Amino acid sequence: MSPKITNRPVTPADLPAITALHADVFGPGRFARTAYRVREGRPAGEHPLSPYCRLAMVGERIVAAVHLTEITIGGKGGALLLGPLVVASDVTGQGFGRALVGEALEAAKAGGASLVILVGDEPYYGRFGFKPVPPGQITLPGPVNSARILAAELEAGALADYQGLVESAR
Ligand SMILES: CC(C)(COP(=O)(O)OP(=O)(O)OC[C@H]1O[C@@H](n2cnc3c(N)ncnc32)[C@H](O)[C@@H]1OP(=O)(O)O)[C@@H](O)C(=O)NCCC(=O)NCCS
Repeated sequence: MSPKITNRPVTPADLPAITALHADVFGPGRFARTAYRVREGRPAGEHPLSPYCRLAMVGERIVAAVHLTEITIGGKGGALLLGPLVVASDVTGQGFGRALVGEALEAAKAGGASLVILVGDEPYYGRFGFKPVPPGQITLPGPVNSARILAAELEAGALADYQGLVESAR
């Protein structure tokens, strides 16, 4: 029998294993990633977890995780930054990323969030409703290719209400 797959919210006890997965997949370059910079350089384990962070387990092993950070954009709340999304290199392409992002967006919508942004590939994230943000509308700390700033509206028309710098909400 193959090991059971479980997708569930992240708890603080999961953070050491998720940090190790980030180190394996992203290496030392992970500290330059946007999500780390928005969290003021703090890794996920040193920053309050949003209720929307989720992980996937195969048996007892954490194989994938998605982190969401509550942010303000130009001082306005109700938005989230998605990232990092990490999938262990031996299980990519098996739907773990898709399932976790889909579930996180559903939970964020149910929780009343209006907008989710990320820095990533439109060909991958487009399937979840992410679209490029008009250049200059939303700015992030540090250098970012503005064509890779994507947003998904959880409330129709929400993107138009958000302009300016992304900062951690807490
Ligand atoms: C990119 C990543 C998050 C995708 O997660 P995953 O669980 O492997 O992806 P899924 O199985 O859910 O989806 C696979 C599909 O996405 C596509 N895909 C994967 N990466 C893609 C990309 N960068 N651009 C476009 N499509 C992509 C695959 O071709 C596949 O398409 P199909 O469903 O038509 O066959 C994962 O592979 C990963 O962690 N990679 C290394 C780290 C990385 O690059 N992270 C970037 C996101 S922050």
